[in-house]
Amino acid sequence: MSAQDTMHPVVEATPIDKPYVPPLPKADSCLLVIFGASGDLTKRKLIPALYDLACAGCMHSKFQVLGVARTPMTSEQFRAAMRESAEKSHDAREFTNVCWESFSGNLHYLTGDINDHAFYPEIAKELEKMQANGASTNVLFYVSTQASLAPPIVEGLAKAGLNRNDKGWTRIVLEKPFGRDLKSAHDLNEIVAKAFDEPSVYRIDHYLGKETVQNILVFRFGNSMFEPVWNRNYISYVEITASESLGVESRAGFYEETGALRDMVANHLLQLVTLTAMEPPVAFDAESVREEKVQVLRAIRPMTVEEVAKRTVRGQYGPGTIDGADVHGYRQEPGVNPKSNTETFAAVEFYIDNWRWAGVPFFVRTGKRLPRQRTEVRVHFRRTPQALFSRTADEDVEPNVITLRIQPNEGISMRFGAKRPGPQMRTSSVKMDFDYSSAFGTDTPVAYETLLLDAMRGDATLFTRRDEVEAEWKIITPIEEAWAQIPPPAFPNYAAGSDGPDAANDLISGDHRHWHPFQSGR
Ligand code: BG6
Repeated sequence: MSAQDTMHPVVEATPIDKPYVPPLPKADSCLLVIFGASGDLTKRKLIPALYDLACAGCMHSKFQVLGVARTPMTSEQFRAAMRESAEKSHDAREFTNVCWESFSGNLHYLTGDINDHAFYPEIAKELEKMQANGASTNVLFYVSTQASLAPPIVEGLAKAGLNRNDKGWTRIVLEKPFGRDLKSAHDLNEIVAKAFDEPSVYRIDHYLGKETVQNILVFRFGNSMFEPVWNRNYISYVEITASESLGVESRAGFYEETGALRDMVANHLLQLVTLTAMEPPVAFDAESVREEKVQVLRAIRPMTVEEVAKRTVRGQYGPGTIDGADVHGYRQEPGVNPKSNTETFAAVEFYIDNWRWAGVPFFVRTGKRLPRQRTEVRVHFRRTPQALFSRTADEDVEPNVITLRIQPNEGISMRFGAKRPGPQMRTSSVKMDFDYSSAFGTDTPVAYETLLLDAMRGDATLFTRRDEVEAEWKIITPIEEAWAQIPPPAFPNYAAGSDGPDAANDLISGDHRHWHPFQSGR
């Protein structure tokens, strides 16, 4: 979705009779090559998103997919495996045989070792064959493998000349995590820069494709009433949560190498921090928006080892109960080292050293096997300067809170004080609520659909820039390094289904602060 498309439609935020169906832009013609095609992301996210786009009529007639991976499979077997997951996926909105049959004819598969440079000329031959049969000459490479395979893929492509294309455009999408620390991200950026021009590089962070994440910008910069109070003079602290009730599922190999800090904080949560904290961009285009986001990342105070010990918490889930069902602890999950010290929970207190945010803590937390899936930004305002109603027995006016609900129950709510009906001056906190589905009457598009379409159309606004990922790692790497020096807590330190380690409550507590409890509703 282009920046312009996102911003222009004017829709009333009150219940409407007809669902709002945004016009769907059309993708350029494109041959999509997915590295890591037998992996989890391709099944769970990419194919359902492509299927939906195809059903919605967004794909060009020359659109074709070549899946590449080491697992031996024929194209027929690849289609069957993808069908099974698209049918089950909640991301594919409506599965029909008719749509699948017309879409799946475009799926092809090539087995090979992506670490082996000799494999890349084979890929080139396969692409030529497909193009001779009518596939597009524009090529989009999608690197959906573990981070350590990205350098050999980019180098393999360059060596085989697949990075250049005189018959159309060539772009590359790189999945997160982009590297595993500042050095590897920088090295990968160097390798990528030798093979591709920066405008052809799309570093994906799927949170940026979420409608509600993009709406943070509209909420802040499309309204005049919030921006004047969006600063240290009025805001006491910001709380950002991205919790999941799911465990590590079938991704133990990836997760053991990654952990919650690299998997979620280094990208998705820092992106939420930047969008919440950035200055207004001069224009809504890729460069202006990314420029302001980078400024926030640069202003985040890097931590010393002592600060890491005080301002971060790591956790790992043990056995417990989720929605009434007993579940394993992390160390008992298939593929996980029974003595693993990989964290499945991370909480961090960040400070942004600039005029707008000096002294305002941004508390972020994320974890697997927490009681429920919930991603939200809660902006806590300061108390009123005078507690005018505090002498009344029932005083219950809490400071104002604006909650940006990213998922589920997408929407925004605002908490404020009100007088309770009756002859006495009794007060209470009440809530004003905007709910996406009742206001717009339609499902919001899935993030991967938005991002894949943008990459095929050449719009990089919702992708991270080279200096942006390095700025993210500059913040995260000192934490990883300090964690390597400080012995981890005795893992497991939270039961599956609990609210996370107790230390996370200690991190935020003080000055009437606490995490929004998982047990309460919105
Ligand atoms: C991915 C992480 O980037 O985001 C996963 O690798 C995590 O571990 C997922 O489950 C969460 O995404 P979402 O869109 O479900 O919040």
